Amino acid sequence: MYEDSIREEFTHQSRSFGTSPAMTSAETLGALIELVPEDAGADWIDIACGPGVVSRAVAGKVGSVKGVDLTPAMIEEAERRACDEGVENVAFALGDATALDLDDDSFDGAITRLSLHHIPAPGRVVAEMARLVRPEGLIPVSDIVADRDRDASAWREEIERLRDPSHWACQTPEGLRAMGEVVGLVLDEEQLIPIEIDFDDWLERGSGGSAAADLVAQLLRGQPATAESFSVSENAGGRRLHQRYWLALLVARREIQEGTALRLRDDDLIQSTPGGAVGTEAQQMAAIVHLARNQAVGAHRRDGRQALFEICRTQRADDRLVGAHLPSFGMDRAALVLALNPGSSQGGDA
Ligand SMILES: C[S@@+](CC[C@H](N)C(=O)[O-])C[C@H]1O[C@@H](n2cnc3c(N)ncnc32)[C@H](O)[C@@H]1O
Repeated sequence: MYEDSIREEFTHQSRSFGTSPAMTSAETLGALIELVPEDAGADWIDIACGPGVVSRAVAGKVGSVKGVDLTPAMIEEAERRACDEGVENVAFALGDATALDLDDDSFDGAITRLSLHHIPAPGRVVAEMARLVRPEGLIPVSDIVADRDRDASAWREEIERLRDPSHWACQTPEGLRAMGEVVGLVLDEEQLIPIEIDFDDWLERGSGGSAAADLVAQLLRGQPATAESFSVSENAGGRRLHQRYWLALLVARREIQEGTALRLRDDDLIQSTPGGAVGTEAQQMAAIVHLARNQAVGAHRRDGRQALFEICRTQRADDRLVGAHLPSFGMDRAALVLALNPGSSQGGDA
């Protein structure tokens, strides 16, 4: 069973994985976390969270993070490290990323790193992420990619499986993109990031790495000239592994139409109407936040400020509610008034 092989491998790697410098660098972690907007009210899920490296980093930007993983030793490690580091807004649970026992639309964002190449049906994971986020929810995904060239890809997979028998298959960027498209996710941002790490550290972290070292060395002598997404070079510092990470921000874009009810939280329904939101104060506030955030995503902006200006300009949103919300955009009332009236020399008090 593939699940047994996963649990065996990641019980072996439960301590070493999270402490490897390769897993916490700006390229492997920083670039991914940049895709998560700061929002103290947002609830996120980290799929196949491993020792919780990504979960803890996301927790610094949002209200809460739930991490799920198939391997009990990883969940224990994630809990231990969150406790040691005093990160309180994370919780971890066992779960299968291809079929999670969680409600639809229950998170503002779902994130996953380095999981898809371990899972025989990676499209199911992306479908689960699309199901779990609310309309306009954010889905940052990153994984190592395969070369399109078949020789390079087959050669690399042999090395990967010798080193880690739970490795299933890397996908090309086209294959990864298609998984989002099929479930209606919109690709908002995409990067292919070159990564260079210590090859021997990488080899030894895998449960098969030491035993297969001679065979791997033989395979390395036959490195195809077409290998781009996985190749090994040698310099004074030792053997270096060059990989490419696909990093994408997918969005669960569902059209917001005037007059339609939006489900923001389970018990938080608002009507988006011409001329402004209706409902309780809390619902109106939620509508402003929601609209600002959605329009920010749609316009490839993350801070939402411009969208907030637009809402104030085009809708009769309650001034008091808008004012109360300004600090979350790093603004005060004078800055908003100035932005809405660019001709005036100063904002004054609205
Ligand atoms: C390479 S680790 C990545 C851990 C973490 N995402 C990170 O980047 O720090 C892969 C993780 O995927 C988990 N995994 C593999 N198949 C899974 C599945 N079907 N459901 C949940 N977790 C799974 C493994 O247990 C392991 O912890």
